[in-house]
Amino acid sequence: MITWNTEQQTFHLHNQYISYVLGIEHQRYLVHCYWGKRVATFNQYHDYPKLDRSSFSPTPADWPDRTFSLDTVLQEYPGHGAGDYREPAFEVRYADGNQVTNLHYLSHQIVPGKPRLQGLPATWVEENDEAQTLLITLADPVTHFQVELSYTVFRDHPVITRSARLINQGQQPLRILRALSCGVDFPDSDYQQIQFPGAWARERQLHRQQLNPGITVLDSKRGASSTHQQPFIGLVRPETTEMQGEAWALHLVYSGNFTVRTEVDAYQQTRLLLGINPHGFGWQLQPEQIFQTPEVVMAWSDTGLNGLSQTLHTLYRDNLVRGQHRHQIRPILANNWESTYFNFNEEKLLTFTKHAKQLGVELLMLDDGWFGQRNDDTSSLGDWFVNREKFPQGLRPLIDKVHQQGMKFGLWFEPEMISRRSELFAQHPEWVICAGEQPLSEGRNQYILDLGRQPVRDNILEQMSRFLSEHPVDYIKWDMNRNMTEVGSPTAQPEQQQETAHRYMLGLYALLDSLTTRFPHILFECCAGGGGRFDPGMLHYMAQAWVSDNTDAASRVYIQHATSLLYPPIMQCAHVSEVPNHQMGRSTSMGMRGAVAMSGNYGLMLNLMHQDAERDRAVSEQIAFYKQHRQLIQFGTFWRLVSPWQHPDFSAWMFVSADKREALVMAFSLVSQASSPLKLLRLAGLDTTAKYQIDAGPSEVGGDELMYRGMYIDPPLSRDYVSRIWHLTRRE
Ligand code: DGJ
Repeated sequence: MITWNTEQQTFHLHNQYISYVLGIEHQRYLVHCYWGKRVATFNQYHDYPKLDRSSFSPTPADWPDRTFSLDTVLQEYPGHGAGDYREPAFEVRYADGNQVTNLHYLSHQIVPGKPRLQGLPATWVEENDEAQTLLITLADPVTHFQVELSYTVFRDHPVITRSARLINQGQQPLRILRALSCGVDFPDSDYQQIQFPGAWARERQLHRQQLNPGITVLDSKRGASSTHQQPFIGLVRPETTEMQGEAWALHLVYSGNFTVRTEVDAYQQTRLLLGINPHGFGWQLQPEQIFQTPEVVMAWSDTGLNGLSQTLHTLYRDNLVRGQHRHQIRPILANNWESTYFNFNEEKLLTFTKHAKQLGVELLMLDDGWFGQRNDDTSSLGDWFVNREKFPQGLRPLIDKVHQQGMKFGLWFEPEMISRRSELFAQHPEWVICAGEQPLSEGRNQYILDLGRQPVRDNILEQMSRFLSEHPVDYIKWDMNRNMTEVGSPTAQPEQQQETAHRYMLGLYALLDSLTTRFPHILFECCAGGGGRFDPGMLHYMAQAWVSDNTDAASRVYIQHATSLLYPPIMQCAHVSEVPNHQMGRSTSMGMRGAVAMSGNYGLMLNLMHQDAERDRAVSEQIAFYKQHRQLIQFGTFWRLVSPWQHPDFSAWMFVSADKREALVMAFSLVSQASSPLKLLRLAGLDTTAKYQIDAGPSEVGGDELMYRGMYIDPPLSRDYVSRIWHLTRRE
């Protein structure tokens, strides 16, 4: 999978799908040659026109002629101060105040498999023959600063992963000002950029735009990957569609502050950089110490955005999530949040559970409010013991009764937070993230625990471990409801204050690692006030995530459609909720609410405190249908057919089983029109040589016909917020 051409001085990383080629220019500089569809061999190294632009694009010292400049050449991990004026991947300041680094190739190593990233989540492989890794060491001969770049190529995916280790081989401490995970220079700029801006309850809004000259920054400075952006950038050719054309994805496996920088330079070359946000970041590196950056997943497709998504879906399902749940069917849960909010007790929850059970629900998910003195959002975060007012006998009787009904039990935690009104705050006010004497900004009446500190995370680990040892909990919804302000750590040295946000993430990952290792049977759902930390970092530890606090089915069509660009349905938790919807005030049909929820891990946020014959009949049918088809939904191939971002009145998607024997097609009417045009829906991913039966219909239609010609939506969806589902079975 990795070949080193000594004569040419090129590395060729390849599998059956892709080639990624880099070379060493004049035995010194690591340059980028190619990333795209597989080529058998790469022979054009060094072939670019050699032009003298040395007036304003300097030539390195001791260079044989004036035709090479770091300012114009395509690079892999560009620095700053030695001739490249574009955005750098890293910056360090040495003890003498200098900030110039000049990295030269030193050595390389090709190793089987994929080494683990110390302290950070990353993709992984089970067997060494599933991947190969190239480690390239670059060094500055003057400062002895080193960078080790890691490139893994997967055998079975059109994917490369990259990360970097910054190493101080000098005699003096140095300060890292910027340590991005990767840089990739593309030879042209005829691309459109895909990004996911958003906000609370409006996460991941799909946005596609032409690249502009100069620098474009997408980022988070919030201490979390956030609802506002995704640590991702997609590049597509202008002609690329869902079904055709080239697409590149770069996705950072990290849950904290990040930056994604795109620079279109003077010669219309495009530089992409991803990594920890340098804003508010700094890291002291003592001699011999190493700084490990997070990983970037780099995927490529020439079968459009669906192809790109399917690659990421498979990779994330198989090689990102760890633990026993990754290949397990996910339970259907009922969450009490929108029924009771904080107002519940054992009796109410038993009524809720009884009704849920009758509908076919498999797991009771008890949300916020069961602990400390918590009756609203003003108290008790940090006090992870049972609220005795609500549960005088503790939680055990409720859990046992839920289990006796043959259901599982899930519980809400927000372990990273602390309320001012809590026993933990009374004991340890100094455990909060804070900046000296600066007053603390409020965010949902809570502060953030400084998880970068061992005693702080040990306390939470110990409290949760004790609780979970005494209570047989099967599922945890791990919430996080505010972003960082006044960032600093009271016990850190002044020169280490800017390490706080990253140390927090390392602490959080360590905590998650310990908990998921101690309690491997617990299925974790990642939540952050909805989808405020829906990123590959968190999904390494938690197999699924709450997509959005917006449970309105129409809004969810947009959000889940966009989310599916990166994440498979099995990672997306989606619930049927009441109408009018609590966030949007909108009423959508029960059918559409069901179809949207079934497009991920189906659950209920209905008010099950009371029964409603008509609603309950519909929900029971949905649950029975979902149980019958969830293997296909959770583990099949997902295809987006019609985008609501392009057709705001309508959307459609489908799921196809791996063996193509069955498929589910779903269509959603958002805003209907009078006298509307007829809709012919072209399907995807079917067996073109086979015939399919649609539902229980009498006729059989060829997979080719359904894909190339399509099928009419008949009768048309002529109301707002209604949907239809078709089940296709291949005739054998
Ligand atoms: C925000 C979550 O996204 C909601 O689903 C709910 O769990 C609340 N927090 C509880 O405070």
